[in-house]
Amino acid sequence: MIIKSAEYVTSATKPAHYPPADLPEVAFAGRSNVGKSSLINALVNRKQLVKTSSTPGRTQLINFFNINEEIIFVDLPGFGYARVPQAVRKKWGPMIEGYLTTRETLKGVILIMDIRRIPGQEERDLIDWLNHYALSCILTLTKTDKLSKNKMLKQLDAIASRLSVDKKNLVLFSAKTRQGRDAVWEAISAIVDK
Ligand code: GTP
Ligand code: MG
Repeated sequence: MIIKSAEYVTSATKPAHYPPADLPEVAFAGRSNVGKSSLINALVNRKQLVKTSSTPGRTQLINFFNINEEIIFVDLPGFGYARVPQAVRKKWGPMIEGYLTTRETLKGVILIMDIRRIPGQEERDLIDWLNHYALSCILTLTKTDKLSKNKMLKQLDAIASRLSVDKKNLVLFSAKTRQGRDAVWEAISAIVDK
């Protein structure tokens, strides 16, 4: 994919504030601090189109970006960060679920997981839930640059087993080395063209 333009559109918490649904859309989901915003930046070759942060829980709104006037990328707030105030956390579930169930142009979700961590119930629940709604899901393991090749292959096996998927369905990715960038784009193109 050649990136001609990548622009921030708007941020929203509820459907009334989403931008017009006139382009195919893909959303990026995952645990807080896992590297969602960094992955989007790597895909569109921008350092800071989306704000990244070493402080978990930075993205608290649903953020929409227009890529090439062709596709909308949606950066979702991360789940599972304990130090976000309870009041904020309680809004996240409904906010994300509201988005995933009502957005008619949503083609699929890129679920991002840290390769160093075995996925928890949240990831499994999200996968089941996406399957239930027949939404495509691209499973991505990020921060591969942080592990040795050996350790990476071990984690790949363990994560595939935990998620009950074949490991060939897991895309290895690093925002630092850009490993897997083309593979993620290919997967996105496949669900958008479906
Ligand atoms: P929230 O919006 O807070 O949920 O976080 P996020 O999932 O958007 O993560 P973000 O992209 O802000 O990255 C979190 C931290 O991880 C930042 O310090 C990034 O620089 C770092 N990071 C992200 N991806 C990678 C990667 O592939 N390799 C390495 N080494 N660091 C990464
Ligand atoms: Mg973020």
